[in-house]
Amino acid sequence: TASTASTAFDEAIARDQRIEPADDMPEGYRKTMIRQIAQHAHSEIIGMQPEGEWITRAPTLRRKAILLAKVQDEAGHGLYLYSAAETLGADRGDLTQRLIEGRQKYSSIFNYPTLSFADVGVIGWLVDGAAICNQVPLCRSSYGPYARAMIRICKEESFHQRQGYELLMTMMRGTPEQQAMVQDAVDRWWWPSLMMFGPPDAESPNTAQSMAWKIKRHTNDELRQRFVDMSVPQAAALGVTLPDPELRWNEERGHHDFGQPDWAELKRVITGGGVMNEERIRRRREADSDGAWVREAAAAHAAKGTS
Ligand code: 3HC
Repeated sequence: TASTASTAFDEAIARDQRIEPADDMPEGYRKTMIRQIAQHAHSEIIGMQPEGEWITRAPTLRRKAILLAKVQDEAGHGLYLYSAAETLGADRGDLTQRLIEGRQKYSSIFNYPTLSFADVGVIGWLVDGAAICNQVPLCRSSYGPYARAMIRICKEESFHQRQGYELLMTMMRGTPEQQAMVQDAVDRWWWPSLMMFGPPDAESPNTAQSMAWKIKRHTNDELRQRFVDMSVPQAAALGVTLPDPELRWNEERGHHDFGQPDWAELKRVITGGGVMNEERIRRRREADSDGAWVREAAAAHAAKGTS
């Protein structure tokens, strides 16, 4: 009966046991898992655009090869995650339509323009760094297929972060113009990186339930704090300043105090009002319609095979 199923589910969660596709689960758990996994997948696929713009303009063959590998990895991360969503009964085509029609979100961070090649380095360092802070705990998320996808993704993400940091270190040892490019990119990407972790816990409608179901292992604010504490010494080693006058070490807290992001900007960006929202969705819609013939041909070929 429903009550024994939910008891079995609750006991599994209490025992830190993974929930697998065939297990009974509350409808709310299934829905929020599809919502989070789908948005994570959409973020990976949309996230290919900002850096993709620099593949043809990379300054050396080595940088071009690294960027190609990174963007290709993001596509793969998207595919793992759409597959994880399908284990919950979601349909990949339907999820893509929800993204294109604005009925599902993707990470706010990808609605900012990439204005110079230094942005490629800062995205690697800060954006993939924030993604790592967020994704390492998700390796212990209660839903099995999602957690297992995260383990592979985190390994590749650490390469993404290291290549970005190395790129910036190289530029910071370069000309004053290159150093200024790096500082300008840090100034533009620091606050949006903090917003990747979501609204403050007090304004997060999903965090409490996601923590109870062990989908999230830490709250938005806890992970944001961890990211700030990790980034401050890295910025110092690079020789860049972080654009937050309130940023300072707090001895008794054992953490850095920092200013509040502009939450109105986050709200505006995640409801389609970001600088690049239109462009990102237009490109995704085009890719979907340009690729329709491939999907139809593959489906027709597959059907032949079974007839
Ligand atoms: N961008 C877009 N939407 C956001 C957001 C952000 N930065 N922060 C919050 N939201 C949305 C939530 O999706 C939710 O809307 P919904 O109910 O319509 O889905 C609403 O704002 C309220 O936020 P909550 O904190 O209550 O929602 P969640 O509990 O879902 O937490 C989250 C938001 C922390 C982003 C969580 O969904 C999460 O951890 N997702 C998985 C990680 C992820 O998506 N990372 C994307 C980073 S980019 C990336 O990974 C690519 C890398 O290779 C660079």
